[in-house]
Amino acid sequence: MSEKIYINHVGQYLGKEVTLRGWLYNMRSSGKLHFLQLRDGSGIIQCVVFKGNVTPEVFERAGNLTQETSLAVTGLVKEDKRSPLGFELDVKNIEIIGPSVDYPITPKEHGDAFLMFNRHLWLRSNKQTAILKVRDEIITAIRDFFREREFTLVDSPILTPAACEGKSTLFETDYFDEKAYLSQSGQLYAEAAAMALGKVYCFGPTFRAEKSKTRRHLTEFWMVEPEVAFNDLNDNMELAEDFIVYIIGRVLRNRRAELQLLERDISKLEKVKKPFPRISYTEAIKILNDLGNPTEWGGDIGGDEETLVSSKFDRPVIIHRYPTDIKAFYMKRDPQDPKVVLAMDVIGPEGAGELIGGSQREDDYDALLARIKEQDLPVEAFDWYLDLRKYGSVPHSGFGMGVERMVRWICGLHHVRETIPFARMMDKIRP
Ligand code: 4AD
Ligand code: MG
Repeated sequence: MSEKIYINHVGQYLGKEVTLRGWLYNMRSSGKLHFLQLRDGSGIIQCVVFKGNVTPEVFERAGNLTQETSLAVTGLVKEDKRSPLGFELDVKNIEIIGPSVDYPITPKEHGDAFLMFNRHLWLRSNKQTAILKVRDEIITAIRDFFREREFTLVDSPILTPAACEGKSTLFETDYFDEKAYLSQSGQLYAEAAAMALGKVYCFGPTFRAEKSKTRRHLTEFWMVEPEVAFNDLNDNMELAEDFIVYIIGRVLRNRRAELQLLERDISKLEKVKKPFPRISYTEAIKILNDLGNPTEWGGDIGGDEETLVSSKFDRPVIIHRYPTDIKAFYMKRDPQDPKVVLAMDVIGPEGAGELIGGSQREDDYDALLARIKEQDLPVEAFDWYLDLRKYGSVPHSGFGMGVERMVRWICGLHHVRETIPFARMMDKIRP
């Protein structure tokens, strides 16, 4: 194989002849010139085919090229101050690698349903590749954040015997002679690992049979879940804050061009600094009522309510101490007020909704057992989890962040379906 040169590095070859391989993104012609937009995943370069510089066959071949034909283009790298890349290719030769006939996604506008149906091809558009690069940056930042803080990555299983986040969104599957469920969250396993390693996180796909169609819910999404022994609710909130600030900082540093291509208002992201405002659930209800929203104490703070509360702030807001009755069995009750649990959600600005959900965990054996029974969960499935409260139980806390929620907010996207390569939703399992 010859040396591979990618478009984003073409500047190193100024004045030299190179061969680039990629796909035809777009083209236009005028008389003696064809202007090809070649993309290779690393970038897009304009390739200029001048009739006087190539053989008649190559000139004709260039003129008949169709969208997404794969090509090897040889030419001289020249400076082009007007293009975003800063360089163009003065073409000498073009070889067709694979033809592309009647590519369905043309430069005109298409409907969302059509694009999602052709997701395997839609991924090639420059907006979608920009989103995927931001997603990659976020995931890399997540791993670096925890590594720098000496957390250990501990993978949790995907096939599980019990529910973590309520029975209504479980995907059930046969597991030989038993029933198993796709994991809704790796938290319970992360808790066991935190008792072994102190500071851990798990990171993997999680599954919820969400029966509602919203712009924030997928049935398969990636969640990162830190869990820390001896952290209380305040420590947990601080970790969440640092985490978000770190991720935003990294994307602003390394993926500015992608954010610009997505027409993201970067100034809004630059405002995301510590400290985040912290309000109790009770205060959040008061804000809602003052804004004319009728939610009563004890009621759920849904998507619309989150957007209302967050409209008061220019950065993410942390809501803590939710009513015990609307939260998961494993959350610790506030010793000052057992009507609420030591939970916290981070709500993003600009309608981003809940980015993070977490809590201090119930570390008392009897209290945890009572909560499992109260919520009508099968005690025998949680025997191992209860063990953690029998052998050296300690206060501990953690949270989960949905990667796609974060990508949606940072990229400023309307719908979460564009934040993951192949979205899974109630009405979507293909391609
Ligand atoms: O608030 P959730 O349900 O919390 C948990 O699962 C805890 N066990 C996490 C923990 O404490 N270790 O989910 C956590 C986050 C949400 O804040 C949201 O970002 C994301 O996961 N999330 C979803 N993202 C996309 N589609 C869905 N259906 C989601 N459900 C939750
Ligand atoms: Mg939640």
